[in-house]
Amino acid sequence: MMESAIPLHLETTRSRHKRVPSDYVPPYPSFVARYKPAVNRVVMAYFGLQYRGAAPAAVAGALARIAERFAAADGPSYWDRAQYVDQAGFSNVISVGYWSDVASFDAWLGPAREDWTGKDCEGVGTFIEALRPTVGRFETLFSSLGRPEGVAVIGDGMSGEVQEHAYWGGMRDRIPLSQTDEMAPGGRPELVRHGARLIVKAHDNLCLIRSGQDWSDTEASERKLYLEDVEPVLHEGMDFLRDEGVGIGCYANRYMRVLDADGAPTEKSYGQSWWKSLAALERWAESHPTHVRIFGAAMKYLSTLGPAARLRLYHEVTVAAAEEQFFEYLNCHPKTGMLAAVETVGA
Ligand code: HEM
Repeated sequence: MMESAIPLHLETTRSRHKRVPSDYVPPYPSFVARYKPAVNRVVMAYFGLQYRGAAPAAVAGALARIAERFAAADGPSYWDRAQYVDQAGFSNVISVGYWSDVASFDAWLGPAREDWTGKDCEGVGTFIEALRPTVGRFETLFSSLGRPEGVAVIGDGMSGEVQEHAYWGGMRDRIPLSQTDEMAPGGRPELVRHGARLIVKAHDNLCLIRSGQDWSDTEASERKLYLEDVEPVLHEGMDFLRDEGVGIGCYANRYMRVLDADGAPTEKSYGQSWWKSLAALERWAESHPTHVRIFGAAMKYLSTLGPAARLRLYHEVTVAAAEEQFFEYLNCHPKTGMLAAVETVGA
């Protein structure tokens, strides 16, 4: 039995319609994370650090400290870590924590923030980018069951096969708020200086995507297909968003490689980007030659292989209200994350 991606308790009388008719059947299965109805908000908090060249001594200490804080009382239910080299040549290591209990996050954040972005870290820039959306403001999608990632890990389990996917507009149709709201962006990002700390106040309906790829279970021809045919195209798309994204509403893009507990790269990656609007993200996904190509290839491939596919794809997309966002940077270069969206920085 096909389910709606929108859970029953968030269904409401529609003023806006889905892109597909009620008897639409997608060509391959996909699943979404489910949460207990008592969960009305989650937190996704990105704690980043950056440096140029060889890692300064302070890096290991900072990474160990944030991991310790994550493990302490009121820390996240789940976190992971990934890294990438940005357009300015800086290495960035980002530890992402997920909470389903916002009160815990609020109790936890104060001292963690002081530690992370409240004091100089010897040649290392630090930042926090956090959202605390209501459950009506985000969606997830998984091409297979058995290995939740990101915000899905803090869920109560996964759905059965959902209807709203495998067509342009499926992402929007999975976000409960889309039943009644266009989710149009409001206003422009602004910079607020608190001494050396730079805070970006963005705007209503800012959008975040984390889109993950896991090729660790692939073998032989599937691995070759992914690494030789799909990944290079994905890489090109990620570079485009990183270098030229601002013109099309992508404030910042990071193509991250997930790290294991020892800090070694795994066979998992994700693209993470901040967007002016869900509409801008939709436009890129359905029109940029790189994504159109990998979308088409993946649709064909998933439809052919079905549950036998070993490549795992997932994403989570959030459209956050202005008061659900927090961006803070200390000693970071001016093109870091949402700083790139505010022109006055670095002037
Ligand atoms: C190997 C990498 C990727 C592949 C194979 C891929 C393929 C796909 C496929 C098959 C879908 C349709 C999913 C469904 O509804 O069943 C999709 C949707 C989407 N992808 Fe990707 N994708 C990849 C990476 C990315 C990245 C890194 C981003 C952005 C950062 C992205 C943005 C999107 C968006 C926004 C949609 C939703 C479109 C909509 O529903 O309107 N994708 N992708």
